[in-house]
Amino acid sequence: MTTTLDRNRNPELDLDIDFVRAQFPTFSEPSMRGQAFFENAGGSYPCNAVIRRLNEYYRRLKVQPYYAYRASTEAGEWMEATYARLAEYLGVASDEVHFGPSTSQNTYVLAQALRKVLKPGDEIIVTNQDHEANGGAWRRLAEGGITVNEWRVDGETGRLDPAQLDALLTERTRLVAFPHCSNVVGHINPVAELTAKARAVGAVTVVDGVAFAPHGLPNVAELGADVYLFSLYKVYGPHQGAMVVRRPLLDRLGNEGHVFNAPYPRKRLVPAGPDHAQIAAARGVAEYFDAVDAHHGGGDVAGRPKRVRELFRGAEVALLPRVLDFLTAHEHVRLLGPSNARERAPTVSFVPYLGEPERIAAKLAERGIMAAHGHFYALRLLEAMGVDGSRGVVRVSFVHYTSPGEIAQLLEALDGALSPGEGGRFE
Ligand SMILES: Cc1ncc(COP(=O)(O)O)c(C=O)c1O
Repeated sequence: MTTTLDRNRNPELDLDIDFVRAQFPTFSEPSMRGQAFFENAGGSYPCNAVIRRLNEYYRRLKVQPYYAYRASTEAGEWMEATYARLAEYLGVASDEVHFGPSTSQNTYVLAQALRKVLKPGDEIIVTNQDHEANGGAWRRLAEGGITVNEWRVDGETGRLDPAQLDALLTERTRLVAFPHCSNVVGHINPVAELTAKARAVGAVTVVDGVAFAPHGLPNVAELGADVYLFSLYKVYGPHQGAMVVRRPLLDRLGNEGHVFNAPYPRKRLVPAGPDHAQIAAARGVAEYFDAVDAHHGGGDVAGRPKRVRELFRGAEVALLPRVLDFLTAHEHVRLLGPSNARERAPTVSFVPYLGEPERIAAKLAERGIMAAHGHFYALRLLEAMGVDGSRGVVRVSFVHYTSPGEIAQLLEALDGALSPGEGGRFE
């Protein structure tokens, strides 16, 4: 008989899954027994270090930060430490990191700021692969006389072809917005190649990294993006949107904050005001990464972000083929996006031919699988791929903390949920 422990043991994995899971209190909650979490693309569980910091901040430091009294000074120090530690993992300067209530809010504010530097006749490029958060705000710039061009996916594969971007770029292109990775088809775009193309015509790039960042925070300087957005609540942290805005672009943009805050770069793009406690707690994300690195042997500090990225990615790529192979071979399913694990994130969507996505997700839930269905705000992508957006897809998404045992449970559950019942009927 296979025990849970045996099923969790996997010689292909370099990542110590037991160590990793012990950093997430959720996994030892009695209510989670028998449940396998496959809705990570909707939001990951927070790590212990974040919960501990949030709790302590609320208990001890919940005051206006940056004044001279002890609690206030310490609260400010905690926030500064978060900016510095996340900047280290992102390969940028600490004053290039900004927080807002969500990525959707961050793109909304950015679009207001960019509206003022764009002129009628200027062109921007958006995609139909993006989540609406990195599309809607930019498309609305058309109201001010900006020409909005759409870079479209291949209807079969859901991929964006870099050669088609070349055809859209002109000397009037001012901005190109695209995703690092799609939250539905999971394909990872070659960001550095794309930002180089945009830069060659003098356009700035806004890269939505929300669906990529949970799989390893990238070095934004190496990617060459002017703006890189992600949501910390999907990266083991609190419910905040984070964005890197590189300094040359930030200096070109005006102030969206209170008028007297214009001299403070970090206040210009955060009109909502910062959520002190959540920003302070986000340091826990970096501390979690540090702990993973140290547990696996560590090394020089400069190499830490890359080592952590590789550990996470290695663990995911070892397990992902099992899910992709299962869905590719299944006669009642259309897998969306690449069937090759190396080309994609473990955010896996499929269209069931028998039964509604909502019903399949409910059947998965009966089997202990926490998964989701719908269009995931990527309605334009689904429509381009000939998928009925009102039905949507079933999405099962995992990250490095997902165990081989959970993958086995998923495959068993999918097998049951996708099989016709007695007499070949599907209900
Ligand atoms: C790819 C992608 N971009 C943007 C967003 C929006 O993020 P937020 O919920 O922080 O506004 C999401 C949310 O699911 C997403 O998956």
